[in-house]
Parts: sequence; structure tokens; C-alpha cells
Amino acid sequence: MKIQIINGPNLNLLGKREPDIYGNTSFAGYLDRLRKHYPDCDLQYFQSNHEGELIDKIHEVGFAFDGIVLNAGAYTHTSIAILDAIKAVTTPVIEVHISNVHAREDFRHKSVIAPACKGAVIGLGLASYEMAIRYFYEHSNPQK
Ligand code: DQA
Repeated sequence: MKIQIINGPNLNLLGKREPDIYGNTSFAGYLDRLRKHYPDCDLQYFQSNHEGELIDKIHEVGFAFDGIVLNAGAYTHTSIAILDAIKAVTTPVIEVHISNVHAREDFRHKSVIAPACKGAVIGLGLASYEMAIRYFYEHSNPQK
């Protein structure tokens, strides 16, 4: 099965950025571990700091892949354009966040993309991504 992970703005700095909130691990190292853990899963990764590039990637994979795991970063709280992109495609999208956005500033409590997503995994650190991948994996391989 094919799963696309998409990270939005500032998530290229994972491991360096506010480590008290986002941890000390770079996404590259975590992705290696995920790929070893799910060897029969084609896990693709894309990161961009640009809203339009995130939308282009959702369009590109959104009719062919089995799942999209999306951390839209701060665009989560503002981007009607990403909401519309998720609505436009057929591939289900799971929203993920590393931090518990509900325990942070008020402006992080609202996700404008949530209504178009299958569900959300929030606040489990990098394990949020694995939980979302596991959902797609188990639901396309019901015997696992
Ligand atoms: C985040 C939470 C957002 O509020 C923030 O803007 C991010 C990261 C998270 O993964 O916890 O960039 O999506």
C-alpha cells in the first residue's frame, strides 16, 4: 500500500525547533524507523513551507494513494485552501500533530482542516504519525 506523509511549514526544523515542544529527533531518523517497521508499506515523504506546494502534493497523490498523513503545521489553523484540497481528493487524510494543540494557545485549538479529515491524532509526539499509519495499514489489511 502507498501512504504519503506530508509535513507543512517549519517541520523541516524538527529536532532543532523548540525541542521542549517538538522533541530532539529529526524527521529523517524517525522516517527510517517507520520504513523498517512497515516494510510492505510504500511510505513517501514530502515537506514544504509553502501552502501551494502542500496543495499540489495533495492533488498529486490524492486519487492514487491509500492514505495521506498530514501535519499542516500552522496552516491547520488558517488554510481554507488546504481544507478544499482535502475535500477535492478521494484519498482519506488523517490530521496529525506532534504537540497537544489543545493544551497550547487558543489560536491552536481550532483546526479548519479537521472537517474534511478522516480523523486526527494529536499530542503523542512523533508517535502521532505512526498511529495514523497503523490505522491505514490495519484497515487495508484487516487480518493484521
Ligand atoms: C503542530 C502544531 C501547530 O500549531 C504548529 O503551528 C506546528 C506544529 C504540531 O505538530 O504540533 O507547526 O502542527
